[in-house]
Amino acid sequence: MPSRSKLSLTALAALASLVAVTSAQCVEASTDTDLSGCYPTPQTGVEPLTVLTIGTTANGYATSARGWNTWSIQSLADPNIVPGWDATTAPYLDDASILSQCSVLATTPFQAAKFTLCSLDGGWSATEVNSDGLIVPNTKILNITAISDVLHADGLLLGVYVHPGVPCSANGKLIPGTDIYANTLFSGQEDQSQCYFNYSAPGIQEWHNAQVALWASYGVDMIKLDFITPGSPLNDGALPCDMSAASTMYHNAIAASGRPMRLDLSWKPCRNTTWLPFWGQSADAIRTDNDINLYYTNTFTDWQILQQAFENYRQYILLQRAEQIAGHPIVLHPDMDNLLVANNATLSGITDDMRVTTMNMFLGASANLVLGGDLNNVDTLGLQLLTSSGSKLAANFFAEYPMQPRNPGTGDVLPLQLQAWIAGPSAATGEAYVVVANYGPDQGKGGYGTALEGVQAVTVSLSDLGLTTAAGYAASYTWRDVWNGNGTSVSATDSFTAYLNATQSSLFLLAPVS
Ligand SMILES: *[C@@H]1O[C@H](CO)[C@@H](O)[C@H](O)[C@H]1NC(C)=O
Ligand SMILES: *[C@@H]1O[C@H](CO)[C@@H](O)[C@H](O)[C@H]1NC(C)=O
Ligand SMILES: *[C@@H]1O[C@H](CO)[C@@H](O)[C@H](O)[C@H]1NC(C)=O
Ligand SMILES: *[C@@H]1O[C@H](CO)[C@@H](O)[C@H](O)[C@H]1NC(C)=O
Ligand SMILES: *[C@@H]1O[C@H](CO)[C@@H](O)[C@H](O)[C@H]1NC(C)=O
Ligand SMILES: *[C@@H]1O[C@H](CO)[C@@H](O)[C@H](O)[C@H]1NC(C)=O
Repeated sequence: MPSRSKLSLTALAALASLVAVTSAQCVEASTDTDLSGCYPTPQTGVEPLTVLTIGTTANGYATSARGWNTWSIQSLADPNIVPGWDATTAPYLDDASILSQCSVLATTPFQAAKFTLCSLDGGWSATEVNSDGLIVPNTKILNITAISDVLHADGLLLGVYVHPGVPCSANGKLIPGTDIYANTLFSGQEDQSQCYFNYSAPGIQEWHNAQVALWASYGVDMIKLDFITPGSPLNDGALPCDMSAASTMYHNAIAASGRPMRLDLSWKPCRNTTWLPFWGQSADAIRTDNDINLYYTNTFTDWQILQQAFENYRQYILLQRAEQIAGHPIVLHPDMDNLLVANNATLSGITDDMRVTTMNMFLGASANLVLGGDLNNVDTLGLQLLTSSGSKLAANFFAEYPMQPRNPGTGDVLPLQLQAWIAGPSAATGEAYVVVANYGPDQGKGGYGTALEGVQAVTVSLSDLGLTTAAGYAASYTWRDVWNGNGTSVSATDSFTAYLNATQSSLFLLAPVS
């Protein structure tokens, strides 16, 4: 959620008692590129295949998060078009609405595919802190204990949402276990209700420890930390330049709490050589692009936004590839925002072909598989994409081996309308996954700029993918289409041609033929 104005969280009366403080503010960025050095353009060129792997993340996770998040519904022009969603005023959250969706995660197909996280987005918390200066639920709209009890009884997990800093109503409150007042941590004010922190101030870690301990007592299993900087580029209100310490503080506090929790950073943290390794020390996932929500309508997303999201993944993973080659193992999963493939085009805003391609991209990216949409109306395609055995096997593979681009015909890594990607091969089995895509005409943000219409032949050889016998790979692979089930065999001197209409893609499981 980058749109604070959208929510108009109950505005507190101006806190007249607060000393007016200003914070060091960055140049107000209106585009991503204004944040110079933050999002470097990755190097291109044909290189031998470096198999990319994602290790155990900072908070101890071997896979990306899987579950569902409230924001796609909250972001609709009228959230109440979703049956069972009865929260009538902003921020459009209440117990019954949340549980009407998350209870679907407890059904057999979703549990078997490990979609366990029920993640509450912006608006779940109050602007008034508790007597310890800590962030608490907005009890006017929800009962966190009741939600948490139901979720955990069903084998599910609870996620919450926060910005760096604290509501300014923490002014005058003592940090638990200290004689330090919370307002001595303040370094500036985001708006009428939210204060920033000075991450050098004594007591700052103690505040985070107390905050996370309180959330642990609610049964929180995941924290989404939004508006982290450097990054979060379209910083309405000009955020302080560097709130990166918030990630470290929450990480330390999670460890101190003794309760396992994920930490997910939003939105679009800087990803240069300074920052990728830094985030990897504290977080489990970082967002790679803006929100993919439309906000003004009753469909969730569109193809232009997704083309941009896919291009951001290409840039992100090539930067991570450079990090891995430089000796910094990858320990972050990308967060490509909510996965919006559960519902038909009427609600999702994307056709079935686009849904398949979106699933292929999120799976291949090893991205968080945190769904959005209406889980009470998952159609046949949605069920197949999310809960079929092919989907589960692929998700488990990609959890360890994220895909990287290899251009059809060359093996380069440029952004292309007709693209190929490879993940693996796995050290244990020699298997790999390949995505072959025709993203369709570039709608402006796809990074490739071409506009081929209709069905295209996309031809990929094993050597384009880097699977050469000279590099020790098998001379021949079977290619099995994960969604259709059919297969064929491709040898080193041969290639595979996929005939793909605009926006279509195929996901293949490659197995070496011995
Ligand atoms: C990374 O980006 C930050 C923020 O723009 C910048 O200050 C820093 O110098 C960059 N680091 C590198 C190595 O380019
Ligand atoms: C919140 O839910 C818990 C658990 O169901 C219950 O014991 C408690 O009374 C509820 N609180 C309020 C204010 O309704
Ligand atoms: C932050 O806290 C440190 C340590 O107390 C202090 O030296 C510094 O002046 C503070 N910075 C701001 C902007 O308040
Ligand atoms: C699309 O899904 C909605 C439920 O989300 C359903 O009411 C509608 O009939 C479906 N439309 C088509 C064309 O299947
Ligand atoms: C699956 O069948 C389709 C339709 O006959 C064909 O175009 C495609 O190449 C086949 N895929 C594989 C992997 O053999
Ligand atoms: C390709 O997609 C276009 C646009 O959706 C559609 O009109 C056309 O019929 C499709 N072509 C084939 C061969 O499926």
